[in-house]
Amino acid sequence: MERKLLFNKYPKLIHGGDYNPDQWLGYEGIFEEDIRMMKKAHVNCVTLGVFSWAAYEKEEGQYDFSWLIKVIDRLKEENINVIMATPSGARPAWLDLKYEEVRRVDINGKREHHRERHNHCYSSPIYRQKVEEIDTRLANAIKDKNNVILWHISNEFEGVCYCDKCRKNFQKFLKKRYQTIDKLNHEYWTGFWSKHFNSFEEVEPPYANGENALMGLNLDWKRFTSEMVADFMKFEIDTVRKITPDIPVTTNMMMFFEPYDYRVLAKELDIISWDAYPQYHNDYQSLAATFNEAGFTHCLMRSLKKQPFMLMESTPSLVNWREYNKLKKPGVHELASLQAIANGSDSVQYFQIRKSRGAYEMFHGALIDHNGRDDTRVFKEIEDLGSKLERLEEIAGSTIKARAAIVVDWENRWAIREAKAFCSSDKKYEKTVQNFYGALMHKGIETDIIASTDDYSCYDVIFLPMMFMLKEGVAAKLKEYVKNGGLLVGTYMLGYINENQLAHLGGFPGDGLMELFGFEAEEIDTLWPSEQNYLIYDNKKIEIKDYCEILKVKDCEAVATYEEDFYRNYPVVTRKNYGLGTVWYQAARFDANDLLDIIRKDLVRKGMEVIDLPAGIERHVREYDDKRFIFYLNESENDAEVEVEEGLELLSNQMIGGKVTLHKYQTIIIKA
Ligand code: GAL
Repeated sequence: MERKLLFNKYPKLIHGGDYNPDQWLGYEGIFEEDIRMMKKAHVNCVTLGVFSWAAYEKEEGQYDFSWLIKVIDRLKEENINVIMATPSGARPAWLDLKYEEVRRVDINGKREHHRERHNHCYSSPIYRQKVEEIDTRLANAIKDKNNVILWHISNEFEGVCYCDKCRKNFQKFLKKRYQTIDKLNHEYWTGFWSKHFNSFEEVEPPYANGENALMGLNLDWKRFTSEMVADFMKFEIDTVRKITPDIPVTTNMMMFFEPYDYRVLAKELDIISWDAYPQYHNDYQSLAATFNEAGFTHCLMRSLKKQPFMLMESTPSLVNWREYNKLKKPGVHELASLQAIANGSDSVQYFQIRKSRGAYEMFHGALIDHNGRDDTRVFKEIEDLGSKLERLEEIAGSTIKARAAIVVDWENRWAIREAKAFCSSDKKYEKTVQNFYGALMHKGIETDIIASTDDYSCYDVIFLPMMFMLKEGVAAKLKEYVKNGGLLVGTYMLGYINENQLAHLGGFPGDGLMELFGFEAEEIDTLWPSEQNYLIYDNKKIEIKDYCEILKVKDCEAVATYEEDFYRNYPVVTRKNYGLGTVWYQAARFDANDLLDIIRKDLVRKGMEVIDLPAGIERHVREYDDKRFIFYLNESENDAEVEVEEGLELLSNQMIGGKVTLHKYQTIIIKA
C-alpha cells in the first residue's frame, strides 16, 4: 500500500485543537502564555475561528481580521499550523434580528428566536449571501498564510429546518426524484388511508403534527435534508476554494450520526474528520464496550475515503453537557487517542486549548484550565501524549488494508427506524452493526464499512447485518460477487423492501436473493425483552434475542436450528455454495462473535488469518510500502496477556515479541 499523507508539506501526526484567542483579546499576556503551554504540550496545530463571526463582523459590514492575522503569524513563528474554520456555525445576534429568515423553523412549524448555534436555514438566500461575504473576506485575509493547512467548513452540521422555503425545496427535490406525481403516489402507496396527492405542492414535510404515516415520504425527507446540507457545505467549499484552491477542506462529523448520510457529505470533502465524545466509565456497559462504539466510528470515518482521517475534537478530561460528567481516569485519554491513531487517524485534537472563562462550556475539559497551571494531571497527560505522537511521526499516511466489509447504508438505517414492524422503540440497528465490527476486530480481521452500492471486488468476505432495504441492482451485484468466489453473510430482515420502502413481492429476501440463499424467510417473530430462544452449535448453547425468522428451506444446508417455540428445529443458520463462493445466513439475533465461530472454517478457507484476542484487547495494523505498525490496546480494566509479533515497540523503543503483558489502558505499537 502506498503512503497517503494528508498534508505533504507536514508529514507528521497532528496534535492540537480548537483555539479561541478571540475570547481573550482583552486579557494581557494570555496569548503568549497559551503559546508557551502549547509548545510544552507538543501542540503543532490549532483550529481557529470556529465561532468567530461576531469577532470578525461585530456590526454588519464592518470587518476586522487584524487579531486573527496577528495570531496566525505568531503561531507561524512557533511552527504551529492552523486549521482555519469558516465561522458559519453560529450567527451574530444582529444578523438574526435583522433577517428573520436565517433562523430555523422547528418541526412544529414555529420560527426560532436567536439562540445557541448550528440552527440555520440552509434554504435561506440571505444566510447564503452573508456566509459568502464573510467566507470570502476571511479567505482573502488568510490566503498568503502558509501555515494554514486545512479549511474546517462550519461546525458539526446538524438539524433540519421546516420553513416554507425548505418545504418548497423539498417539493422540488421530490419532483426531480419522481418526475410525475403518479409515480410518487405509487412509491408512497398513497392508496392506503386515502393519501393520494394531486400535485407535488400538496406534499408537506413530516411536521410533528403533520403527515407521518407514509414511510417513503419520511425517508425522502431524510434524503432531502442530507442533500440540502451537503449542498450548503459545497457552497461554502466553492466559496473558499475560489480563493485558496490549494488548501484542502474538511468538516467535523459526529459519531455514527443518524440524521445525515455522511457519504453524501464525504463526496465533497478532501479529508474526513470527526469529533469523538464517547461516554467513558458509564454505569451501563464495560469500558471495552464504549471503546468498541468509538472503534466502529473510527472505522466508518476511515472507510469514507479509505485514507487517514482526523480526530478533530475530543476532550482530554471530561465534557460538561452530560447528565453526569465523569472524568476520564488516568491513562484513558492516552488510550482513546491512540485508539484513534490505531484506526487510521493522523491527528489527536481537542476541544479546546484554553477553557472558556464563562458561558455554556466553561467547565468542559481543555488543555489549559482556569487555574492556568502546567502541572495538573490533565496537562501532564497531554504533554506526555504529545511527546509520544512526535515519536510516532512515521505512522502518518499509513492506512489499514481490510479484507472484510460490513455494509451500512444510511437509507437502510432510516428505513428500519421508520418501519412499523419488529420492535417499535429500538430495533438496535446501530448496536448490531457495531457488534459485527467488534466481533471481526476481535478475530484480528480488519474491516471497512461500505455502502451496498460500493465495489465489492476487493473484499474476501462481506457482511450484510439487517440489510432490510435492497436497492435496485444490489441483489444482482451480490450474486455476482458470490458467483466469483466471494463469501457473503446475511442476517434476519434481509431484502424486505426496495429503496422507497415498498415491500419486495414474491418472498424475502427479495429481488432474486432467495435463489442465492436457498430459502424463503416466511415470517419473523419479535421477542419480548424477557424472552429468548437458543441454538446449540459445537456443544455451545447460544442465546437468541429479539428476532427469529422462520425459513422455508429450498436448497441450503441448515447448520443450526432453533431449540424452542413452535419453530423448534427450523434452521437458524444456513449455508449454501453458489458458483465459486459461499453464502451464510443468520436468521435470528445472536452475538456476532458466535456467528464468526460458526463460519470460521470458511473464513480460513478464504485465506484469512483468524485469531482470538483476549477480551478487551483491540488490535489494528496500519501500513504503507513495506512498513507495518501493529497496535495492541488494552481497553479492559485488568492487565492482559497477549501474543504479539516480533519487532521494535515504538513507545518504549524496545524489541519485543511473543507473550507480553499489557497493563490496563496500555498501548503497544510494534513496527514489524
Ligand atoms: C463539539 C463542538 C464543539 C464543542 C464540543 C464540546 O460537539 O463541535 O464546539 O461544543 O463539542 O464538547
